[in-house]
Amino acid sequence: SRPPLEQCYNLLDFEAVAKRVMKKTAWAYYSSGADDEITLRDNHSAFHRIWFRPKVLVDVEKIDMSTTMLGTKTSIPFYVTATALGKLGHSEGEVVLTKAAHNHNVIQMIPTLASCSFDEICDAKSGNQIQWLQLYVNKNRDITKNIVQHAEKRGCKALFITVDAPQLGRREKDMRSKFEDNGTSVQSNSGESVDRSQGAARAISSFIDPSLSWKDIPWFKSITNMKIVLKGVQRVEDVIKACEAGVDGVVLSNHGGRQLDTAPSGIEILAATMPILKERGIQNKLEIYIDGGVRRASDIVKALCLGATGVGIGRPFLYAMSAYGQPGVERAMQLLKDEMEMNMRLIGAPTIADLNDTMVDARGVALH
Ligand code: FNR
Repeated sequence: SRPPLEQCYNLLDFEAVAKRVMKKTAWAYYSSGADDEITLRDNHSAFHRIWFRPKVLVDVEKIDMSTTMLGTKTSIPFYVTATALGKLGHSEGEVVLTKAAHNHNVIQMIPTLASCSFDEICDAKSGNQIQWLQLYVNKNRDITKNIVQHAEKRGCKALFITVDAPQLGRREKDMRSKFEDNGTSVQSNSGESVDRSQGAARAISSFIDPSLSWKDIPWFKSITNMKIVLKGVQRVEDVIKACEAGVDGVVLSNHGGRQLDTAPSGIEILAATMPILKERGIQNKLEIYIDGGVRRASDIVKALCLGATGVGIGRPFLYAMSAYGQPGVERAMQLLKDEMEMNMRLIGAPTIADLNDTMVDARGVALH
């Protein structure tokens, strides 16, 4: 049985409960990383190699953590990133995240491979709630074009093209547990069905086009007016290429450690990237996001100090949803807001604009 929700005091507490109460197959799919899970573990621990350099005697009576991401205002600089197969963890799937995100004025990224249909997830939003679309590019570009243009019509504000998954990583925990058909459908928005015999991750890989390349980027720009962000960029050279390609942003990410093992963490790539963008004077040409291993608001603060516009958070919301449903997700979001307020006060930054790279010592994440 699970402890009362009030006894979850931080995001890692949800993970511990989820591990105990979730179905084995669902836990295996959500929690697994690729190969030896070295990247998975380092995503979180990389944040521990960064230390704060707080300012004192700053007036921090009022804290404003609101910010703008890709042109829209939001309450706090994190978003719910795309994670496939929400119904493995909760019978209602991704709409649980949609409703919680609404109540906290948080942006949600809808996965191509959601368990709920895209329209169900759009229908679940209220008011001026902002949603983005994560895109796996189908070999059949007509299908891709339909997905993109439908999302734009339904009000999605940005398109996150996943570029770190020309083939899905081997997540052995997931493969061992197999994917049991428990009423969860693994379907793309085009309605194709897939072979589920080798674990959920293997089953969904048939949707992804490994021939996708930089040459395709102008085509995306020609079919949509949504902002375009490349999700899964892993080296500064590619950030510069993205800038030259004229996209609106990149997510420095290794897909939550689920793709190339021993790829560096987003926060580490960020620390190596920003000085080079500044050297070239292009740091404001596109927005830089990171994801992977963000579990505390102090992690968010560190990313923003190093130049990120915002961060994505994946597994913690899946775990909160699986263990406690919508109230769990909302509590996780509230805990992050409480931590964020405290961290900004203690570091001496009353607004997001006050965070800068003099407030962290990031020598511990210096990449070459
Ligand atoms: C993901 N992620 C992901 N990314 C993507 O572009 N398309 C997808 O379908 C999925 N699916 C998915 C499922 C599950 C269960 C997880 C855990 C992750 C990656 C995700 O967007 C993000 O990069 C990581 O989850 C960030 O790491 P944390 O916050 O989970 O540590």
